[in-house]
Amino acid sequence: MAIPGQRNKMDKTLLHLEDVYKRYFNQNKKEFTVLNDIDLKVNEGEFVSLIGPSGCGKSTLLRLVLGSEQPSEGIVHFDDKKIIGPDRDRGIVFQKYSLFPHLTILDNIAFGLDVEGFTIPGRIFTPFKYSKRKKEFRKEAQLYLERIGLKNDGDKYPHQLSGGMRQRAAIAQSLIMKPKILLMDEPFGALDDSTRQDMQLFLLEQWKKEQMTVFFVTHDLEEAIFLGSRIIVLSQYYKTDKDSNEGSKIVSDLKISEKTIKPTSFKYSKECADLIKKVRHEGLDPEHKQHIREFDLNHKDSFRTITQDEWNNK
Ligand SMILES: Nc1ncnc2c1ncn2[C@@H]1O[C@H](COP(=O)(O)OP(=O)(O)OP(=O)(O)O)[C@@H](O)[C@H]1O
Ligand SMILES: [Mg+2]
Repeated sequence: MAIPGQRNKMDKTLLHLEDVYKRYFNQNKKEFTVLNDIDLKVNEGEFVSLIGPSGCGKSTLLRLVLGSEQPSEGIVHFDDKKIIGPDRDRGIVFQKYSLFPHLTILDNIAFGLDVEGFTIPGRIFTPFKYSKRKKEFRKEAQLYLERIGLKNDGDKYPHQLSGGMRQRAAIAQSLIMKPKILLMDEPFGALDDSTRQDMQLFLLEQWKKEQMTVFFVTHDLEEAIFLGSRIIVLSQYYKTDKDSNEGSKIVSDLKISEKTIKPTSFKYSKECADLIKKVRHEGLDPEHKQHIREFDLNHKDSFRTITQDEWNNK
């Protein structure tokens, strides 16, 4: 039951994409559409898995949320403000670890705090203050090292760690900045199966502990369904009333579970197998093109604006 005066964390919209289009130019300088009229609302505390065929625009969508690119049309809001560029509220982890090879793991984790806490003039003109803060930042980074199970590896360099350890350090590098949303683009794609499984559980633990909001892009259907409290399928395989259309739309938006961590055995359940089948059919099968009116948008926060053309053809 909701307590009067307290807002349920899950009810606050954190991210809102409104009528978003993204277009690029190809080698022949011809414009093409990658994202076609995307509408999306993500609430605080959700774990959103985004899946779709290769080249459908998943990384493009993530870059719009990060703010490193702007939409061609439409608005991306975050925490009720229009996104105009990257900031500390949105942390990102890529497939290839983002650690600096010349810094130790501890210094890598403290890097964001260092940069934010001190400008170059600050380091030069207030050296005592800088060295005191630097110690505090290292202390905090050490806490994160412990959380990611690398307590005794802080003085090592990235090349001295395994792929899984490096990816954990990259996640800690983002987490220490306490982002409001953690964006991840195929973060476990380069890991072997058992490390990947460990990392999935690690990420879920952090999600629960920190009550984070996560936006997770993956190619792997099982991973998407196991991790996500919500699955969004972005795909260019759909039909409209027009002869041809271009760009991807959200063809499915499915609620999987509330803020609970599924047991690993869920991966072998019938529910998971059925979901994999459904998502594969609706979003990943080029032979199957469902009409936009048939999109399965059953998530309560899912919506889709109707364009004038669609309205006219109703
Ligand atoms: N800066 C750019 N200029 C021109 N085209 C681009 C640019 N960035 C992406 N594209 C094109 O946009 C489309 C979507 O690319 P994107 O990388 O977002 O897909 P994706 O879904 O992440 O693919 P994958 O699953 O392979 O990672 C592709 O056709 C890609 O070639
Ligand atoms: Mg991509």
